[in-house]
Amino acid sequence: MQLNAWSFAEDNYLFSAFDIAIKQYDHTMGLLIKNGTVVTAADFHRADVLIEGEHVKAIGHDLKADGAEVVDAKGMFVMPGGIDPHVHLDMPFMGTFSSDDYSTGTLAALHGGTTTVIDFILQTQGKSLRHALETWQGRMNGNLFGDLSWHMAVTDFNDDTKKEVKEMIEQEGITSFKTFMAYKGALMIDDRQMVGLMNEVKAHGGIVTVHATNGDMIDFLVQKHRTEGKLSPLYHYLSQPEITEAEATGRFADMASYTGVPAYIVHMTCEGALNHVREAARRNQRVLAETCIQYLLLDASLYEKPDGAKWVMSPPLREKKDQAALWGAIDQGTVQVVATDHCPFSMEQKAMGKDDFSKIPNGHPAIEHRMELLFSEGVNKKRITVNKFVEVTATNPAKIFGMFPRKGTIGIGSDADIILFDPNEKHTLSAKTHHMNTDYSGYEGMQLTGKVKTTILRGQVAVHNGEVKIKKGYGQFVKRNKVSGML
Ligand code: URP
Ligand code: ZN
Ligand code: ZN
Repeated sequence: MQLNAWSFAEDNYLFSAFDIAIKQYDHTMGLLIKNGTVVTAADFHRADVLIEGEHVKAIGHDLKADGAEVVDAKGMFVMPGGIDPHVHLDMPFMGTFSSDDYSTGTLAALHGGTTTVIDFILQTQGKSLRHALETWQGRMNGNLFGDLSWHMAVTDFNDDTKKEVKEMIEQEGITSFKTFMAYKGALMIDDRQMVGLMNEVKAHGGIVTVHATNGDMIDFLVQKHRTEGKLSPLYHYLSQPEITEAEATGRFADMASYTGVPAYIVHMTCEGALNHVREAARRNQRVLAETCIQYLLLDASLYEKPDGAKWVMSPPLREKKDQAALWGAIDQGTVQVVATDHCPFSMEQKAMGKDDFSKIPNGHPAIEHRMELLFSEGVNKKRITVNKFVEVTATNPAKIFGMFPRKGTIGIGSDADIILFDPNEKHTLSAKTHHMNTDYSGYEGMQLTGKVKTTILRGQVAVHNGEVKIKKGYGQFVKRNKVSGML
């Protein structure tokens, strides 16, 4: 029976979920989730889900399975495990390393219902993509709790790098290539390199993603503020005005249009950038766009606080009008993904920039709470439907990055990456209780409604009621398929 998502959701909220009892965690005999409300990007219905081995075997009414453990999920939303396509784990950056490694980061993700993440490999300028891949494999191997894939960040596109694009896509299953139009002198590439990379990636079936802000303008403003002795975190924000992002977004979209490469803009923050994506759509170009949970919920007034360094990230938090524009763009489909850009640091690391905003490591922790924050602030506050929630947290990332329908949905034959989510449970975010390896939360004290109760990864209960049921090493590297840039 198909029901209107809103009315059913509201009725459903009238009764509370009771505690789910799960006795065994090794489900070789199967796991049968009964009486829940199965939500995908397209559907919303009462159904049972039968898991056998790592996959979904059946979805239907009154399913039976001899030997399978039965889980009563009454009152729960049964949804696809989240896919966060923008995280930075154990990453060397600004003179330090992001503080979650592959084990703490993927475990924190599982606690919050995210079963797969896509992390970034950074090419060292002057060295090969293969060299970077092997370095990152050394950090990752044996350490995963959750599943993970990589984007390859190309920081030096030349004749040698060009030859490696095909082998990354075809041999390694790394089909997305990240570029930086900012971080001048470190990660930034110029437009000549960008166009060269786009041509090569298009030729072999990949997608180019971008941190789209104008690195030269930002560099100018950073130096200007430093020279004037304006060194507090507020000047991080004032060194990256909206125009720096809007300009680069338009330039990237134009280069993507010229080359025809599938194109994806990461961590979009503002109305000016969105307008360039809409401009591209008017000429029938699809430019895919991601925003991050913090840009929907937090704003630039935080930079005036004494602990403003906590929210120093690039691009910076923006204005309330940008939040409204981003919520609207999600609803309209102009923004297809809500990620985190999880790049955590401790307060001690943030203090590297206590006397100079340009030395504060950029980034903030969010991998654990993206799903619960978006549900509470988005679905429960009626800014987005629950189907849209699934679409932007799981289905679209899987489609865009070549993992669908293996991941990103609950379908027969898909990986059994599933969360049991109580839409009514209230809880409070705090660094005292979170699992991310950082000593602060950007959302300290925030009260949420809606909680992940159980996270299932490839058929195994990974986390249940906050207890971890798998061992380090259970997570797998996900080789991805070629992509088209279409959804
Ligand atoms: O501040 C951020 N976003 N840090 C991580 C690197 C990046 O630009 O995504
Ligand atoms: Zn970035
Ligand atoms: Zn990032």
